[in-house]
Amino acid sequence: MPVKINYLKKTISKKSLNIILFSNEEFKIGNVKKILSNSEQSYIKDLLKTSDLKKKIMIFDLNSKKKIILISLKKDQKISDIENLGAELFGRVNSGKNTEYFLISDSIDYKLNNLLGHFLHGLKLKSYEFKKYKTKKSSKLISINIVGIKNVTSFQNRLKFKALEEGTFYARDLVSEPGNILHPDEYAKRLISLKKDGLKVNVYDKTKLKKLGMEALLGVGQGSVRGSYLVTMEWNGAKNNSKPLAFVGKGVCFDTGGYSLKPARFMEDMTYDMAGSAAVVGLMKNLALRKAKVNAVGVVGLVENMVSGNAQRPGDIVKSYSGKTIEVLNTDAEGRLVLADALTFTERKFKPKFIIDLATLTGAIIVCLGSEYAGLFSNDDKLSNQIFKAGEKVDEKVWRMPLHKNYDKLMNSKNADMQNINYVGGAGSTTAAQFLQRFILNKTPWAHLDIAGMAFSKYGGALNSGGATGFGVRLLNQLIEENYE
Ligand code: BES
Ligand code: MN
Ligand code: ZN
Repeated sequence: MPVKINYLKKTISKKSLNIILFSNEEFKIGNVKKILSNSEQSYIKDLLKTSDLKKKIMIFDLNSKKKIILISLKKDQKISDIENLGAELFGRVNSGKNTEYFLISDSIDYKLNNLLGHFLHGLKLKSYEFKKYKTKKSSKLISINIVGIKNVTSFQNRLKFKALEEGTFYARDLVSEPGNILHPDEYAKRLISLKKDGLKVNVYDKTKLKKLGMEALLGVGQGSVRGSYLVTMEWNGAKNNSKPLAFVGKGVCFDTGGYSLKPARFMEDMTYDMAGSAAVVGLMKNLALRKAKVNAVGVVGLVENMVSGNAQRPGDIVKSYSGKTIEVLNTDAEGRLVLADALTFTERKFKPKFIIDLATLTGAIIVCLGSEYAGLFSNDDKLSNQIFKAGEKVDEKVWRMPLHKNYDKLMNSKNADMQNINYVGGAGSTTAAQFLQRFILNKTPWAHLDIAGMAFSKYGGALNSGGATGFGVRLLNQLIEENYE
């Protein structure tokens, strides 16, 4: 990681070079007598008189050796604004030559704990990069030294954020890996290694899945030389044995489309077709790292959708784990086949309080919502509202889309219980969600998040510098923290 955050117990001398200070809206600086001389303070004041105070971050060179970065905070600033400001600061320090900064936390005169925690969280999230396959390693590491922590709560808060950052970065790493490295065999192996964090991990391989009767999932991976897996990860952090919260993820390590082959320009991105599963994994890792007081289970279906002499054909009919039969009219509508079995299995085995699935399921959701909102489909208003609110808070937004029995009808098949695409056309994301809903057998509250437009950012966003976003980890962590812990 290119940023390291350190906590310094002692104060710094006035000679220190790069200083980060907070001020209020009018750029009035708090208690910094130990850091800046009187003349330096009045010099800044004069400069501020001629500056554009609409800017949130100002940089002053006091002399050739001393630089001040001044950040203005409003008292009632939204959390996501503070995180974005941290991210903006990363941009500023990353483009400069210097690598060591001192952040004077005492210069904030309001509720320090959360402000600073969120600020550093944003900075850290933005600093992520995936450079594993660059042979030339850049050695630049920026240290941000926090000076003057007033009490330990802020530090403990930081531990929570750290867990969330690690979970998010783990998800981003998984999504960033190319298909030749992170195939289902390798993915399953990496998940087993999460036992070290305290998760209970169970891997169901092809043989076990065959015995269980998961033909829908197995059919998708049938053309691949790699294995197909269902992996469960359990975290039991609640004192009682309350029903777990369940999270299910689509883990298509590469989606060629199968015999319903994708054109090249749509295929090249399909290394991120496992982003739903990565969000589930990142969330579970985060829960374990921060020892969340909740029972939760993550379930991911890991397959590779390939063409070969043995691959699934359009028109094949498979029997899902639920017992319902599916006519696979389009082998590129594979995510729902994987999720179908994973959903029924999760409901049957864990009897969860609710199920939320995440999947890069349809291109149609990108047509609807672009890269601003994930699509939310649900059979439960309360759960939907909770997810919506959590999304607003952490700026991983969702927008609810309709389900209706008339859409459901479009998935009926002449030859089997249902088909995997809707031949009338239109409402591609909703009909996919209707298909999934058919595999929730016991009316468990369920929500489906179509994250096809959110999982990968070509040009970067507020809290990422481009590439895998880790969308879903912070959203679901917020949902849990706010409502279930
Ligand atoms: N993985 C794709 C959806 C996707 C598209 C994700 C673009 C991210 C970016 C999914 O498996 C797929 O191919 N869906 C088809 C469904 C269709 C055949 C009914 C689609 O969206 O075209
Ligand atoms: Mn597909
Ligand atoms: Zn796919």
